[in-house]
Amino acid sequence: MERRSCGVRHMCTLSLLLVSVCPLCCRASWMWLGVTSAGLPEQRGCSDLPLSHRQRDLCRKKPFLLPSIQDGAQLAIAECQSQFRHERWNCSTTEQPSVFGYELTSGTKETAFIYAVMAAGLVHAVTRSCSQGNMTECGCDTRLQGGGSPKEGWHWGGCSDQVQYGIWFSRKFIDNSVKNTSTSRGGYTLSTCNQHNSEAGRQAIVRTMSTHCRCHGISGSCALKTCWKTVAAFERVGVYLKEQYEDSVQVSDRSRRKTRRKDRHRLPVDMHQLIFFNKSPNYCVEDRRRGIAGTRGRRCNRTSTGSDSCVLLCCGRGYNTHLVRHVQRCECKFIWCCYVRCRRCESMNDMHTCK
Ligand SMILES: *[C@@H]1O[C@H](CO)[C@@H](O)[C@H](O)[C@H]1NC(C)=O
Ligand SMILES: *[C@@H]1O[C@H](CO)[C@@H](O)[C@H](O)[C@H]1NC(C)=O
Ligand SMILES: *[C@@H]1O[C@H](CO)[C@@H](O)[C@H](O)[C@H]1NC(C)=O
Ligand SMILES: *[C@@H]1O[C@H](CO)[C@@H](O)[C@H](O)[C@H]1NC(C)=O
Repeated sequence: MERRSCGVRHMCTLSLLLVSVCPLCCRASWMWLGVTSAGLPEQRGCSDLPLSHRQRDLCRKKPFLLPSIQDGAQLAIAECQSQFRHERWNCSTTEQPSVFGYELTSGTKETAFIYAVMAAGLVHAVTRSCSQGNMTECGCDTRLQGGGSPKEGWHWGGCSDQVQYGIWFSRKFIDNSVKNTSTSRGGYTLSTCNQHNSEAGRQAIVRTMSTHCRCHGISGSCALKTCWKTVAAFERVGVYLKEQYEDSVQVSDRSRRKTRRKDRHRLPVDMHQLIFFNKSPNYCVEDRRRGIAGTRGRRCNRTSTGSDSCVLLCCGRGYNTHLVRHVQRCECKFIWCCYVRCRRCESMNDMHTCK
């Protein structure tokens, strides 16, 4: 199944910057600022980072974007882990060979989600930074200013998020400079597939943007409204991308002649859809070679019927039950003035973990 071998995996090891630098064998020559177990990443300059030539040039030209690159990666990783916390594959990160290990290059739905969420995280972080006035190259979206509909009593005002700059930077930083991912006949390569999914992630930011308005005029009249557009909270983007993940479509792999006919997606792929070409493994048992942790020891829910149920999460292997003690603050009372006094309540709960 795993056809790619990677002789330079050790190069990928890094504590701060977790990189997949196997452009020839893995074809995933992009990198991310990762999150170390040691906590917050320290500030570093461009030359301390093992970037590709292209990325280092970009970094030197725009060092002010480094904090956003880190923020974006952290946002994305946290959201991925939150969206997948009840799934067999829980988006756990490793330090070797790259943040997401095998899943970065497996060409599965999980790879698709990772690329999408990472690209989206970068757009989000850069855009927020633009709107907060932290950058000279971008700011609020001025294209809207002056517009609106006076007849209907509203106009654009305030600071609308300008996503174009973030999208531009995310493309420039992540994409492998593949010009055209559209493939009418030949199918996808891992890198065009990844690039498509990154773009779908960027578009997720655009799609989930929303408009907010504030009323003016005599109190309660709302005779005049000022409206502005903002990107959604990243959690909302995560929920949207998880739905896209559930609906992702299989496309044919250009490097393999015989993708089974029934597996192939015949219709043209929409730019918002996530695509993959390999079926996912079931993630049930540990497979160190592929960096799959397996679900042994995972906490499951005996009464749930979803993916966190003991039946599904434990893949039918059964589960162990432990009694765990819970200590909580309870029966809290407000005491005049001004503190809250609580009791400590202990309870014993069953906890189930997969065998
Ligand atoms: C994912 O599951 C593994 C066990 O399979 C566990 O060790 C790890 O902490 C989990 N990661 C997250 C982010 O929940
Ligand atoms: C903008 O800059 C301020 C001050 O340096 C910082 O506290 C804030 O986190 C920055 N915001 C973003 C989104 O980077
Ligand atoms: C991408 O390639 C397809 C087919 O090769 C072509 O029809 C399409 O116009 C190209 N798109 C761009 C943006 O170059
Ligand atoms: C288990 O699942 C049930 C039903 O989905 C839910 O109400 C309950 O809060 C869950 N328990 C835990 C410990 O997550």
